[in-house]
Amino acid sequence: MNNLLNSSSNNNNENFGLSVRLGNIKLKNPVIMCSGTFASGIEYNELYDVSVLGAVTTKSFSLKPREGNKPPRLCETPAGLLNSIGLQNEGIDFFIHEQLPIVNKFGINIILSIFGSDAEEFENLAIKIKKIEENLLAVELNLSCPNVKKGGVVLGLIPEEVENVTTTVRKILNIPVIVKISPNSNNISEIAIRAKNGGAEAVSLINTITGMAIDIDSFKPKLGNITGGLSGPAIKPIAIAKIYDLYKKKILPVIGMGGIFDWKDAIEFMLAGASAIGLGTANFVNYNAGKEILEGIISYMNNKNIKNIYDIIGKVKDN
Ligand SMILES: Cc1cc2nc3c(=O)[nH]c(=O)nc-3n(C[C@H](O)[C@H](O)[C@H](O)COP(=O)(O)O)c2cc1C
Repeated sequence: MNNLLNSSSNNNNENFGLSVRLGNIKLKNPVIMCSGTFASGIEYNELYDVSVLGAVTTKSFSLKPREGNKPPRLCETPAGLLNSIGLQNEGIDFFIHEQLPIVNKFGINIILSIFGSDAEEFENLAIKIKKIEENLLAVELNLSCPNVKKGGVVLGLIPEEVENVTTTVRKILNIPVIVKISPNSNNISEIAIRAKNGGAEAVSLINTITGMAIDIDSFKPKLGNITGGLSGPAIKPIAIAKIYDLYKKKILPVIGMGGIFDWKDAIEFMLAGASAIGLGTANFVNYNAGKEILEGIISYMNNKNIKNIYDIIGKVKDN
């Protein structure tokens, strides 16, 4: 099994049939780290060789550094985590100049997540990224941030904006574009179609679901921002249903995420139609989760004599 996790070459994974393709994005295996839960992988690389993973999606970077929301910004709920980080980050220049040389040295496969408050900010981000694009597997557009210019509405909930932003970035960059979709949209298919029209190769689904918790002693909301995004096991069945629905429509390949904690969860997501899987909150509970999930998928395939991961993807017996 250790050979299969050999980071120095893609060949072992490929021979075993672990590699996946999402449009023009080729991953040596389907295990991805979700944005905002693994930084850029540098610190985790001290704990294990992060280059064994299919990809690490970075924290979402904006044009300028952002301080994020006022604390408290994290709150545990019975089966999940509420967060209202507010997209705190050091700005894209920090990634380009401080982090990229290190992740390159470690051989980490990077999907760079970016966000802006409008198409113009995304355009300016893409212009900066253009200079380093050959170092990236893909860029992921986090379209779930509040859009100040549109009166506080989340950009990713407006279909025309999704197409507009995707087209804008696509025109500048040659690398594949992924669009991260908000589960809070009531028309995910329409959003995915718009992402495709704009030139996206894949969608990531799901981001966190809006939630709230209140302290019954102080009567105060538990988060400084009042509401936050719910992640973890609580949202897993919702994520699976949305991924299954989108997979059936064959609009774009899906990177599935939302409550994946172990390899069994990962297999479930792939059966529902996810071509690759992302884990987020699990990283806060078990720093080794990504590696263990990859090993678990390999053991499962060995035990069931499944030679290729595509014999799992979308193979739920639903009729
Ligand atoms: C603390 C925290 C920070 C996050 N930051 C980002 C972010 O910067 N960009 C983004 O696209 N998603 C962000 N997410 C959402 C995750 O990438 C993921 O879509 C979501 O948490 C569902 O997966 P999970 O249940 O495995 O955590 C964040 C989630 C958490 C818990």
